[in-house]
Amino acid sequence: MQRQTAGRKPDRKKSAKSQVQLSPLIRRAWKAAVKVRERAYAPYSEFQVGASVLGARGKMYSGCNVENASFGATICAERNAMLHAVAEGLSEWTDVVVVTDMSPPACPCALCLQVLSEFAAPGARVWLADPRGVREVVSLRELLPRHFGPRELSEGTRT
Ligand code: THU
Repeated sequence: MQRQTAGRKPDRKKSAKSQVQLSPLIRRAWKAAVKVRERAYAPYSEFQVGASVLGARGKMYSGCNVENASFGATICAERNAMLHAVAEGLSEWTDVVVVTDMSPPACPCALCLQVLSEFAAPGARVWLADPRGVREVVSLRELLPRHFGPRELSEGTRT
């Protein structure tokens, strides 16, 4: 039986998972990530991930994680989506949507952040989601503040 405080209705909003407001473009990317996640090849971890990368002009590329019996050859969903985007000619992304079934939502791993970072537009955002909605949006820089980039190879002096 549900307990209720006398004279007060239970606060439904508080118990429901919070959702982030989405533009039509981000909603489209989220839907694609939910769909591609269903194609994840994850027989070892059974942890399915879907990701969609959006370019500045709304071009979208998706990918799922693809595991391997060697384990080490496993490719994450975010890198799969990013490499797909590069292969199709995208040079810069503005938004990435990542879908898992985790609560709180899972962040991309450090390897994926590094690869995403290489092609990120200034202010690039990462939308953390599950199949029922987008739960959080964070900047890539918040997730990877001091990244190794092309600048590290061309600027500064060697000691
Ligand atoms: N995985 C991703 O697809 N993205 C991440 O950022 C972290 C982990 C996958 C790799 C592996 O197939 C499974 O999740 C468990 O680590």
